[in-house]
Amino acid sequence: MIPILLSTRLSQAVNIEDLRELARRRVPKIVFNYIDGGADGEWTLRENRRAFETVTFRPRQAVAVPACELRTQVLGMELSMPVLLAPVGYLRVMHPGGEIEAARAAGRAGVGLILSTVSGHRLEDVKAASTAPVWYQLYLTGGRAAAESAMQRAMEAGYQVLVITVDSAVIGHREREVRDGMEQLLRGSVWSKIPFAGQVLAHPRWLARFLLDGGLPDMPNIVTPEHGVLRVRDAHTAMKREAFSWGDMRWIGALWKGPIVIKGVLSAEDAKRSLDNGAAAVVVSNHGGRQLDGVPPSLQVLPEIVEAVDGQAEVLMDSGIRRGSDIVKAIGLGARAVLCGRAYVYGLAAGGEAGVRRALDILRADLERCLKLLGCPSVRDLNKSYLRAPHC
Ligand SMILES: Cc1cc2nc3c(=O)[nH]c(=O)nc-3n(C[C@H](O)[C@H](O)[C@H](O)COP(=O)(O)O)c2cc1C
Repeated sequence: MIPILLSTRLSQAVNIEDLRELARRRVPKIVFNYIDGGADGEWTLRENRRAFETVTFRPRQAVAVPACELRTQVLGMELSMPVLLAPVGYLRVMHPGGEIEAARAAGRAGVGLILSTVSGHRLEDVKAASTAPVWYQLYLTGGRAAAESAMQRAMEAGYQVLVITVDSAVIGHREREVRDGMEQLLRGSVWSKIPFAGQVLAHPRWLARFLLDGGLPDMPNIVTPEHGVLRVRDAHTAMKREAFSWGDMRWIGALWKGPIVIKGVLSAEDAKRSLDNGAAAVVVSNHGGRQLDGVPPSLQVLPEIVEAVDGQAEVLMDSGIRRGSDIVKAIGLGARAVLCGRAYVYGLAAGGEAGVRRALDILRADLERCLKLLGCPSVRDLNKSYLRAPHC
């Protein structure tokens, strides 16, 4: 009965906002706000959406587009549409299937998935769950030895690309998480958890699944020689200690045998620095407004980065993608493909693999409809001439 009800609710979701609402009802407030929230006053989070609203379309009317080509290649890899699932940490807390169910959905949809370092599932199992490209995102949490071991395992498991996130010198101050007791729930004593227990007890179905899954997952891809697998309660402290700096590119580049992508680029200078350090692609990203509040929306920065890179590497973008028309705008402004974060995570929290599939179906249908209404036969043909963009 419950699975039928769930699939009806998912299929009734007509856009990502509907999936967000379903997620809000299905998981405790703290889990929802971990997904949904941004840093500080959430200005960048809001501006990420507003930037898409300021770009408008310039359609070619009465152009017959009987079949639309959504396929594209990113770093030589075929994707059924220009979308990769962004690296998102702690997916297993949103749904026990977490990264594995997201990978299955990505594989079925033929889109890429980037696995976060902060995953509760073993990277080998996630890779095995998808037939589409799977990339590995690296944080230096746990130190160099832990990173080297993860990179070695990722290469052996068949990960094609390494993504290095450069915008996380420290973790952003996400006020909703502080208010809802993230610190106490992750690391506090039993007594300190009590004031926040109500929000968890209000979701018995989520709680039962969470407890049957063993509670808070450890980090099986962060293994240090001294401490073994990193415990989740130590992850925040470990992240604070070990942030990436450009000097690390030398040993990372020597070990990783494949393309490297730099994620979190927000200036022409850093785009050029990424190229000088051998990046095959950059991701224009402000981490979905979760790190430095006050940085501009990624969409606004995208043209500057495309110009600086000047065809020497591929440019991807993320932050704020909720509709197929957003994907069209990003590609029209020069992105090769986009990363979706919350758009698929709302789906995962709402209904595991089926929820992620619903999110991807929604984005694909939107994308195709938008191209047809624009009179553009292929995502590869999109360019600025289909848009009116104030900041270009
Ligand atoms: C809950 C959450 C956790 C995230 N964890 C990571 C992470 O572990 N590594 C990383 O590089 N980016 C992480 N990100 C950032 C995403 O990769 C991506 O940049 C962002 O979600 C894009 O914005 P959007 O959510 O508006 O699509 C996270 C984002 C969210 C929402």
